[in-house]
Amino acid sequence: MYEYLPSRPDRLICDDPIGVFDSGVGGLSVLREIRRELPTEHLLYVADSGHAPYGDKPRDIITERSLVVAQWLVDQGAKAIVVACNTATGAAAATLRTRFELPIIAMEPALKPAVSLTRSGVVGVLATSQTLASDKFEALRGRFDKQARVLVQPCPGLVERIEAGDLHSESTSALIADYVLPLLAQGADTLVLGCTHYPLVRPLIQQIAGDQVIIADAGVAVARQLRHRLTRQRLLSTRNASGHDRFWSSGHPDKATALIATLWERPVSVGQLTAMCPCEQ
Ligand code: DGL
Repeated sequence: MYEYLPSRPDRLICDDPIGVFDSGVGGLSVLREIRRELPTEHLLYVADSGHAPYGDKPRDIITERSLVVAQWLVDQGAKAIVVACNTATGAAAATLRTRFELPIIAMEPALKPAVSLTRSGVVGVLATSQTLASDKFEALRGRFDKQARVLVQPCPGLVERIEAGDLHSESTSALIADYVLPLLAQGADTLVLGCTHYPLVRPLIQQIAGDQVIIADAGVAVARQLRHRLTRQRLLSTRNASGHDRFWSSGHPDKATALIATLWERPVSVGQLTAMCPCEQ
């Protein structure tokens, strides 16, 4: 793997922005909670849609892309990085923490709340194949599988549909049903959305699963964790006004702008991210 120089910003300043990234638009489900929790912070968001999905790529490719995008955010002046992607967390969070000397906040599927909420004692985790195969997830599962039966379900194809903006169609609904119904048939009454794209189709998931099924995701917890880390490191913004949101994508610029505007529910301008891995240059 290419040797990156460890990035050591001389001085992290509290009014610098927070950098957030995902393999695509999924991390907007986390960004939404960060914006709610920290209204005065400036937020930079990178959707690496030109390389999505990460979920079926080899681990070293996911790590390379995560390093490139995180370095790019650091170069834009980010004071902290949020890895708003479970797949990148499983593959690359540990490497990012060794390479960057700034707070790195990453995802953890919401298994802890799920095992405390289940009444049937059966929890279903929906995530990408890479997340479910990661050591990090195996360790998480090991912490909770005495308290509840934990079923796992990879969801190939779902991230691609969400990236294509296909959030409400019959075929997306049918794909979700293929993944969710077998979990319910095995007794799951609580579903963990272990991929940040999935909260973007939460209404469909809830409709298919039924109102009695509890759905847990980690967006709010990550936003709180970010606030906690920034407070502890005296990096919370001192600004009184609202922070701005800026967006970049490595995907097709027009498509990215239209999709991010729809999901963010306001007009946005989306910059083109051209940062490449050394192996791609
Ligand atoms: N949002 C990413 C996650 O949380 C999606 C992964 C992918 O690109 O496959 O895992």
